[in-house]
Amino acid sequence: MPTIQDVAKKAGVAPMTVSRVINNSGYASPEARQRVQAAVAELGYLTNTLARGLRIKRSNTLALVLSDITNPFFTTVARGVEDAASQAGYTVIFGNTDESEEKESRYLNQILQKQVDGILLVPVGESDRMVQRIRSFGTPLVVLDRKVPGELVDTVRCDSEDGAYQLTRLLLELGHRQLALLAGPHGVSVVADREAGFRRALAEFGGRPPMVYFGPFTQETGEALARTALAVQPRPTALVAANNFLAIGAFKALHDVGLEVPDDVALVGFDDLPVGLLTDPFLTAAIQPAYEMGHRAAELLIARLSEPAPSQPREIVLPVQIVIRRSSGVKLS
Ligand code: RIB
Repeated sequence: MPTIQDVAKKAGVAPMTVSRVINNSGYASPEARQRVQAAVAELGYLTNTLARGLRIKRSNTLALVLSDITNPFFTTVARGVEDAASQAGYTVIFGNTDESEEKESRYLNQILQKQVDGILLVPVGESDRMVQRIRSFGTPLVVLDRKVPGELVDTVRCDSEDGAYQLTRLLLELGHRQLALLAGPHGVSVVADREAGFRRALAEFGGRPPMVYFGPFTQETGEALARTALAVQPRPTALVAANNFLAIGAFKALHDVGLEVPDDVALVGFDDLPVGLLTDPFLTAAIQPAYEMGHRAAELLIARLSEPAPSQPREIVLPVQIVIRRSSGVKLS
């Protein structure tokens, strides 16, 4: 737990100046005040009274920290969270981490300074660093969508390993043997799980050595990874994209080189695009119940807030649904 001396050192001021700023008593120059406030936020310094207040006073506010709200998957998760929260009389503040540990840390330090009653976190990477930090403030936490290895914490997620296994098995049963996985970023538990499911299905079918490519969950990455995979000879006849943005990028890369989906290359992916926005849904997808995941996570967190003492953490794993559409093609002759 950071001390007033740590804040003073970080801000480059005397401890007395830190005290004056925190207690808003006595003079401190605007520049010193700004440096102290930045150091307090960055170190997550809490005065004992404020920390105690956080645990006693209710603000009826929850914080949702997720990866990227522009992704329809997370938008839907957030809607599930907010519906459950507002039904219980809570408001929700949220932030994006963009899979950045620095951004995650900055956000959570700020949130822990406020008087949120609980946190719902889609963790960046596989570190339990932030879970430990939130724990140290005594703030109730539910981890969403991903796993934090080794850390017993309430978790609501979907079965990515099985979803990837089912998508890959579908392609193998259609006759594909040269498959490539556009896996997403290293260090994210759903990526490791999707890679495991992909490899498990290939191992069962004795497909050629798996081709697995990693990169951020973006459309641009999907394009680049698809191009890399297509440069391998013999080229893959099927691509598995670990999320919707990667699938969109792969589709564009295939189109740019004149390859048709599914006639030339079958394409499947995780997470659907909002079907309401599409007149003719095309992508064979492993669809995660994003709304239910968000709703269940918020309900679990709110239930924890009224418990007299913490009980055994729960892990809720929701099934992924495979929806078969045109992009996976038909059985190869
Ligand atoms: O699209 C982003 C992906 O990361 C989703 O599949 C979700 O599982 C999240 O972890």
